[in-house]
Amino acid sequence: MKYSRIAGTGSQLPDKVVTNHDLEKTIETSDQWIRERTGIRERRVAVDGETTGTLAREACRKALEAADVDPAEIDLFVMGTTTPDLVFPSTACLLQKQLGLPDCGAMDVNAACSGFMYALSVADKYVRCGDAKKVLVCGAETLSRIVNWNKRETAILFGDGAGAVVLEACDDPGILSTHIHANGNYVDLLTTNAGISVGWDAVEENDGKPEIIMRGNEVFKVAVRTLGRIVEETLSANQLEKSDLTWLIPHQANLRIISAMAKMLDMNMDHVVVTVDRHGNTSAASVPLALDEAIRDGRIQRGDLLLLEAFGGGFTWGSALIRY
Ligand code: COA
Repeated sequence: MKYSRIAGTGSQLPDKVVTNHDLEKTIETSDQWIRERTGIRERRVAVDGETTGTLAREACRKALEAADVDPAEIDLFVMGTTTPDLVFPSTACLLQKQLGLPDCGAMDVNAACSGFMYALSVADKYVRCGDAKKVLVCGAETLSRIVNWNKRETAILFGDGAGAVVLEACDDPGILSTHIHANGNYVDLLTTNAGISVGWDAVEENDGKPEIIMRGNEVFKVAVRTLGRIVEETLSANQLEKSDLTWLIPHQANLRIISAMAKMLDMNMDHVVVTVDRHGNTSAASVPLALDEAIRDGRIQRGDLLLLEAFGGGFTWGSALIRY
């Protein structure tokens, strides 16, 4: 068996909804501005006791159930996250026990918003080389914990959530190809102002807590350019045309970036899965959340050709072409 296929998906969102109107009460912004510039109406925010791990755990349970796979059968667990519960053990390792997985490899991958694409790529390679038959892959974040809620530039954009898939080995694709890239020269456009080793003694704003620092306008332009390139790379690696695609499942950062991608691919927005209006940008969770939603509501059908893509801090970017 030389390919991996998606056997099941799952997702989890916090119950707490923060609308644009809620934000109007605490920062100088408006529902209209946020909707026009980003397409976001509301986002979900983790409450006390909810963490990246608790959200991921429920998403993974649902994915295992949908795939009808016993946790004991999992050979590898890969988690894309930038907001792990602890410095160590990794969130994947913490969840391994809670999910009842065997002593398989369990790791977190940090590629910011591209974390799920990176995790999926690692998982697919393990299956392709024959070292794993069933792999659990998750993208989960609580970015709300590193957002400065007093800064309108970033507070309006992000939300929390988790999405997961179970991959299994099969004879026919499945995942046709995955592609990952990074360019650390762009660190100043999207980063955090503190970290474990660098420390955050010097941080004065945000009650002394680390926060996301972003030059939104510049990020926007590079994102559109870079995603355009990776979409072309992905299609040409498989000798396929834009018209072969059934669904685009993009990273949910901004509706205008998503629309630009759809235009580039000559795709009608009816064939683009959009959740950014209700979830905001959930970073590594955004693509698997959107994928799970469209599979569960029946839009995505077996045999459809799916293009997944994401872009995030670093910059990092990644894609996957999948025959569902
Ligand atoms: N509410 C109201 N006004 C706001 C605002 C807010 N939440 N945030 C910024 N503004 C103001 C700015 O201060 C600026 O005012 P000025 O013209 O008086 O200087 C004006 O709106 C335009 O700011 P700008 O940053 O140029 O807006 P924009 O059209 O680029 O939209 C983003 C801002 C952040 C929505 C947009 O750039 C974006 O989505 N970028 C990509 C970010 C992203 O996806 N990051 C994650 C990547 S994974």
